[in-house]
Amino acid sequence: VFEGRIVSEAKRLNRRVCVPEAQYDIRALEAAVRVSRDGWLRPVLTGDADKMRALAAEAGIRLNGLEICEPEKSADLSRFAGEYAELRREKEKPSIEESTELMRQPAFFAAMLVRHRMVDGMCSGIHFSTADVVRPCLRIVGLKPGSKTVFALCPIMVESCALGKDMAFFAADCGIVAQPTSDQLAEFAISSAEVVGGLMGESPRVAMLSFSTHGSASHPEVDKVRQAVEKVRQARPEVDIDGELQFDAALVEAVGRKKAPGSMVAGRANLLIFPNLDAANMTSKAMQCFTGGKVTATMILGLNGRINDHTRGATVEEFAMNLALTAVREP
Ligand SMILES: CC(C)(COP(=O)(O)OP(=O)(O)OC[C@H]1O[C@@H](n2cnc3c(N)ncnc32)[C@H](O)[C@@H]1OP(=O)(O)O)[C@@H](O)C(=O)NCCC(=O)NCCS
Repeated sequence: VFEGRIVSEAKRLNRRVCVPEAQYDIRALEAAVRVSRDGWLRPVLTGDADKMRALAAEAGIRLNGLEICEPEKSADLSRFAGEYAELRREKEKPSIEESTELMRQPAFFAAMLVRHRMVDGMCSGIHFSTADVVRPCLRIVGLKPGSKTVFALCPIMVESCALGKDMAFFAADCGIVAQPTSDQLAEFAISSAEVVGGLMGESPRVAMLSFSTHGSASHPEVDKVRQAVEKVRQARPEVDIDGELQFDAALVEAVGRKKAPGSMVAGRANLLIFPNLDAANMTSKAMQCFTGGKVTATMILGLNGRINDHTRGATVEEFAMNLALTAVREP
């Protein structure tokens, strides 16, 4: 249901999304061919066209009609290199030659295209690690006005489990900040709620997760979550949020009623904010192992553009769906 909505919305918007891994991995190429053929969106393959054609030929795929943007041949290469040198003048202080070398790399060039709104977004991570996806974007795309922290929001789809069928919910931070502060947790909740509201077509119900529910345990880690809840309530009183809540109190109705009576969120949360990256990462992996849940797309939030990441183990279908998600989500 969720995926169907994303695809229809992507078709309606007809956006251009950069794919900077098409010269490295046949899955990225194949997904780009599919989304273009099926009219989901317009992919922009960034990189070396000869390498892409060689990969495509090996797999018997035709690239006819796909837009390819080659950094090496682009009229923007020297302008982007100069701009990068200026952007990083205080930090690595790259020379023009070093900046040009970086701009030749598809991921850095693609980040410049996003920075200048020459494309609507970028989806990558089937070949690059998360750090290699995020680092050029931190440096080039930069933070969205009002944001302080970049983090990862993931849709989690579960076809069938003890809680029901065809379930979709969201989790953060699944990929970037190892030990977030209470301020950062509050930022994750507020920014994620905005994006999730747009994607789900229903109001986000935010659970701030912990090993404690409403004071059942006391520990500085629990205090951190509770403080984050207070910060969100003060900054955005309209957001439905509750915490600290245990995982079952957040998602299982009977447990929610018992452990957090009167809560609008407990037992029916659709947005889960984890207290740290350990918890988020292990839970999402456990869901994939035990429920067949799918956690493939990763929306990088806090950046001034639509940037999505991907697990390197993804299939062509999953990458195609992530391209659609990149196209439709808010930056
Ligand atoms: C995201 C990540 C790559 C950033 O690494 P980094 O070494 O700090 O990168 P850089 O130094 O190039 O950062 C560029 C800038 O972004 C800033 N920055 C780093 N992380 C940031 C964040 N989460 N939010 C906002 N800004 C951040 C840096 O402070 C730096 O600022 P500066 O240019 O003013 O010095 C790193 O935090 C990381 O690897 N996280 C884990 C990713 C991962 O492996 N996930 C998989 C597990 S699920």
